[in-house]
Amino acid sequence: MTVRVGVIGGGQLARMMIAPAVELGLDLRVLAEEPGMSAALAATATGDYRDADTVLAFAREVDVVTFDHEHVPQPVLRALVDAGVAVHPGPDALQYAQDKLRMRRRLAELGLPQPDWAAVSDADALQAFIDDHGGRAVVKTPRGGYDGKGVRVVGAATEAADWFTALAEDANGGELLVEELVDFTRELAQQVARRPSGELAVYPVVETVQRDGVCAEVVAPAPHAAGPVAAEAGRIGIEVAEGLGVTGMLAVELFETTDARILVNELAMRPHNSGHWSQDGAVTGQFEQHLRAVTDLPLGSTEPLARWAVMVNILGGPAEGAMGDRFATALAGRPNAKLHTYGKTPRPGRKVGHVTAVGDDLDEVVYEARAAVAAFD
Ligand SMILES: Nc1ncnc2c1ncn2[C@@H]1O[C@H](COP(=O)(O)OP(=O)(O)OP(=O)(O)O)[C@@H](O)[C@H]1O
Ligand SMILES: [Mg+2]
Repeated sequence: MTVRVGVIGGGQLARMMIAPAVELGLDLRVLAEEPGMSAALAATATGDYRDADTVLAFAREVDVVTFDHEHVPQPVLRALVDAGVAVHPGPDALQYAQDKLRMRRRLAELGLPQPDWAAVSDADALQAFIDDHGGRAVVKTPRGGYDGKGVRVVGAATEAADWFTALAEDANGGELLVEELVDFTRELAQQVARRPSGELAVYPVVETVQRDGVCAEVVAPAPHAAGPVAAEAGRIGIEVAEGLGVTGMLAVELFETTDARILVNELAMRPHNSGHWSQDGAVTGQFEQHLRAVTDLPLGSTEPLARWAVMVNILGGPAEGAMGDRFATALAGRPNAKLHTYGKTPRPGRKVGHVTAVGDDLDEVVYEARAAVAAFD
């Protein structure tokens, strides 16, 4: 019988599951927030993922539920589990990707390396942390942040006054997360796939470059990481996947510090921007691997297909005209550049696609991917 996979959320991650689902013979169905989204081609339902009835009705028609994003509320996830629906990743794991304070507490229990942090519920506590950490710190809203929204570098507690006010107005009360401002040489990401039956597949650690809090480029594998860095990143990825009981794709965002430590920044339990390179640069791309994992099929090899893969995001897209008007310019004379578009309307800063180039010469590969993306300026 054809296995039906239900994806909650109609963004580009759901969209990029469509091709491998076809190849694997899976019936992919998407619950999209609205018509015309990235994954519209596979949308079988439209509705609010925060509404239990909507999500339950969608889930009853599939064999396993998975996600395009981590914003489905815990009570809705619990309702699915109570109704006997297979959910991967399940709510017990997903809570740590939904709430950065819960994540910090759990990683501390597991003894995993992370920045100094504290939960603060008022300005005095925040100021004390800042004073103890050289006069600067990073404040984060525990929930709902993405692309750097909900992350603020502050030198005084007054700079987070609006967030404390919002907390006070929130019926649940709550706390902010504050972290030391990590002195890092670069950011890395470690991806691991895990099946419900426990099998793991570990990807090479990659280097990620963020601009204005948004992922801009990824180099796979991370240069100069062979040896201790890759081993430590892989160890952390496996311990998080197993310790938190993650099923499907896990991405662990990491800092490599100036004193050569690897610290966990945050987690994503779904395909992740840092893994797009694997679509064209590895034996098994992350979207196929996610589908294999959530349907409990044997996992595929994570071996790279070439020495280097470089992924560059198309951020914003053309100010005038359609994306499609630029395809020919982007690809001409760049036979190693692979274009992926998300079917989204260009808007400043928005992720509307990416290009991955693979090859043996890192400079060439970086140039080719960047040049193709520049055609969309
Ligand atoms: N403690 C820290 N010290 C230094 N820089 C930090 C720290 N925390 C976050 N950053 C910077 O801010 C970026 C965004 O932070 P984080 O990943 O927590 O936010 P997000 O909005 O949830 O992320 P995403 O863009 O992955 O959705 C990080 O990639 C890093 O560049
Ligand atoms: Mg992040």
